[in-house]
Amino acid sequence: MSKIRICLIGAGRAGEVHGDVYNDYVKNSEMAAVVDNNLEKAKSLVKKYSLKEILAFNTFQDAINNVKFDAVVIATPTSIHSDYVIKAAKNKIHVFCEKPMTTTTYDCDRMIKACKDAGVILQIGFMRRFDPGFLYAKNLIDEGAIGKPIIIKSLTHGPELPEKWSLDIKDSDGMLAEVNSHDFDTIRWLSGTEFESVYAVAENFKCPEIGKIFPDFYDTAVVSLKLRNGALGLIDSVCPCFYGYDARAEVVGTKGIMFIGSLQDSTTITCTKENNIFTKQTMSWNKRFHEAYISEDRHFIECILSGKKPVVTGEDGKKAVAAVVAANNSILKGKPVNIV
Ligand SMILES: NC(=O)c1ccc[n+]([C@@H]2O[C@H](COP(=O)([O-])OP(=O)(O)OC[C@H]3O[C@@H](n4cnc5c(N)ncnc54)[C@H](O)[C@@H]3O)[C@@H](O)[C@H]2O)c1
Repeated sequence: MSKIRICLIGAGRAGEVHGDVYNDYVKNSEMAAVVDNNLEKAKSLVKKYSLKEILAFNTFQDAINNVKFDAVVIATPTSIHSDYVIKAAKNKIHVFCEKPMTTTTYDCDRMIKACKDAGVILQIGFMRRFDPGFLYAKNLIDEGAIGKPIIIKSLTHGPELPEKWSLDIKDSDGMLAEVNSHDFDTIRWLSGTEFESVYAVAENFKCPEIGKIFPDFYDTAVVSLKLRNGALGLIDSVCPCFYGYDARAEVVGTKGIMFIGSLQDSTTITCTKENNIFTKQTMSWNKRFHEAYISEDRHFIECILSGKKPVVTGEDGKKAVAAVVAANNSILKGKPVNIV
């Protein structure tokens, strides 16, 4: 069977994670090109995979003109995802787009329509849905192990601030989009229902210098959600938290409770005579979700080859964007906002 050829767009942090995964773990695929508007970054990633014939470009159009490929993996700053998704679809190229899908539901609709009209796959990068622990929990919940979920709590705390482009909330939808999109998706996925309304509060505790440039910037938020089936959701967001990469969830059901994920990097715990007890915490998202990134990239290729629908669709991406936008509105207005 011929291999699915991939063009990676955006050779930054997430782009490199996908590049590594496609290079090392995804059979039936091969990297064909890397595009970055900073050509040196594209070249440096290509150099990393130097045993393969991969070309670097600083525009997507140059890649289209010079190399044949079947699919793109889009890992650029969020606000430009839509341009690349729509251009790829118009060229009949399958699309994997990193989360958040984009910054507005209007753009989500344009992206979904472009891919549908072109008949190409559109998968969004909510890799928690491929994490063995989260998947196990989802299956147990669906089997009724804890009864009906009534409270779903999900948190993501990042050790450091993400890249500069994500600091201006007007351009990126802020930390709730960049860091906590995963939590919105997790709550919707685990509860099996849609969002109804949101009330969110936020503060800037640690980054006063960023607040001087972007007055709406927050590094900490608490989000409460009402779901259509009556269940409640809660997200807490801290970035930077400095202590590690922390991604956990807790589901309270009518018959029990479930805890998903751990900050601990390994099962080893050391106790000493001096009454110390210590273990190592997880420090990076790419390490924490390594297996999940491999599974989601394999799934994308399987969907292209079989024509089956991805488990994370453009509609799922749009629901998370709608909730993030409503949560940011709630923070600004100081009152609950309906999620449409
Ligand atoms: N799924 C996850 O867990 C996860 C983790 C990190 C980032 N992300 C997402 O991936 C995307 C990228 O984030 P990142 O942290 O890798 O950012 P980054 O800044 O590290 O990388 C972005 C790259 O895109 C390039 N770029 C900027 N403008 C471009 C343009 N117009 N055309 C082509 N390339 C351009 C930059 O030069 C840079 O190399 C974001 O949407 C982010 O939310 C997802």
